Amino acid sequence: MKVRVSRKEHFNAAHRLYNPAWPDQKNREVFGKCANPNYHGHNYELVVSVTGTPDDGTGYVMDTKILSDLVRREIIDLFDHKNLNLDLPHFKHLNPTAENIARVIWDILRPHIKAELDLKITLYETERNFVEYPAD
Ligand code: NI
Repeated sequence: MKVRVSRKEHFNAAHRLYNPAWPDQKNREVFGKCANPNYHGHNYELVVSVTGTPDDGTGYVMDTKILSDLVRREIIDLFDHKNLNLDLPHFKHLNPTAENIARVIWDILRPHIKAELDLKITLYETERNFVEYPAD
């Protein structure tokens, strides 16, 4: 009997979507306003979900206080009020799309969560656009 437990957090960050291998014209065609050289911001909503069997003793899959502290320490402190392209080494050679941000967050958190628990990242870049990683 597996249960999924989620913690929602929030951060603001700026980014620019850009492929340095392409000329500026192609970047503008593909990424539109998101390729604006002077960056733009998003209010990201992050949902971190862990799935597993509740512990016999506590009834918890994972203590949400521990999950919340982990997400704030490892992710929010790193991402909040940052320029993702310039401030985070993770995106020095990786386009900071919502897809790639979700993968980076998963990679950072995975070692901190018990191996028997599944980890899923849901990242809202806008109220209407969000990604999930892994997809299944
Ligand atoms: Ni954007």
